[in-house]
Amino acid sequence: MQKKELLYEGKGKKLYKTDDDLLIVSVFKDDLTAFNAQKTGSEVGKGALNCKISTQLFHLLESHGIKTHLVKTLDDSSQLVKKVDIIPLEVVVRNIATGSLTKRLGIKDGTKLPFSLVEFYYKDDALNDPLVNDEHCLMMDLVKSESDLEELKRLGREINSILKKFFEIRGLNLVDFKIEFGVDSEGNILLSDEISPDSCRFWDIKTNEKLDKDRFRQGLGNVKMAYEEILKRILENK
Ligand code: TMP
Repeated sequence: MQKKELLYEGKGKKLYKTDDDLLIVSVFKDDLTAFNAQKTGSEVGKGALNCKISTQLFHLLESHGIKTHLVKTLDDSSQLVKKVDIIPLEVVVRNIATGSLTKRLGIKDGTKLPFSLVEFYYKDDALNDPLVNDEHCLMMDLVKSESDLEELKRLGREINSILKKFFEIRGLNLVDFKIEFGVDSEGNILLSDEISPDSCRFWDIKTNEKLDKDRFRQGLGNVKMAYEEILKRILENK
């Protein structure tokens, strides 16, 4: 597979064309950003860790029948993926209140939610990715139909239930996470982008230690060590 010119550079990944119009190469970067790139940093090896973590989690989800964009890994920090039109929504699923949810609604940090909460954020850096409701999504044509919105919520909940169980037996609370979906050339909705400690919150069940990008956002240090710990636990045979 020939990697060709750069198509797009995001905060976490670079996407390259290939000699096949239906496939692209996604390269995971070492850069870290927070608060809409007002805070930036880098950790050598972070991209490779996220690539490995995301690959493992996408394989797990595929084994439970979730369709994803992943075709195969190419090297430590790149994946070959199906080209999709990204739905411009960040789908966030939460099990425990923290982050923007506690700030917006005044819920005490660490409160276990009575059910898994699914939220949509409009992917627009200039607007700081605002929270949107179903009618905003339809009004702005962010999705084709109400049934697509229902499908995104259903997929979010199903992915949460698979990942939550998987991490629980590895001693980690999946606090919340963000996923993105794309539509392929045949109109299928595929899980796309990545699932990694950049896009999830993991708290150690015993110690409550944060093992995700909040270590960078909150200046707690040992970012890479935390990501290594997540990969180690994912690879544990349970
Ligand atoms: P939040 O509490 O800041 O809204 O974040 C919810 C989840 O979404 C958390 O796991 C981090 C993830 N997330 C991203 O992956 N990218 C983002 O730009 C933001 C704001 C959150």
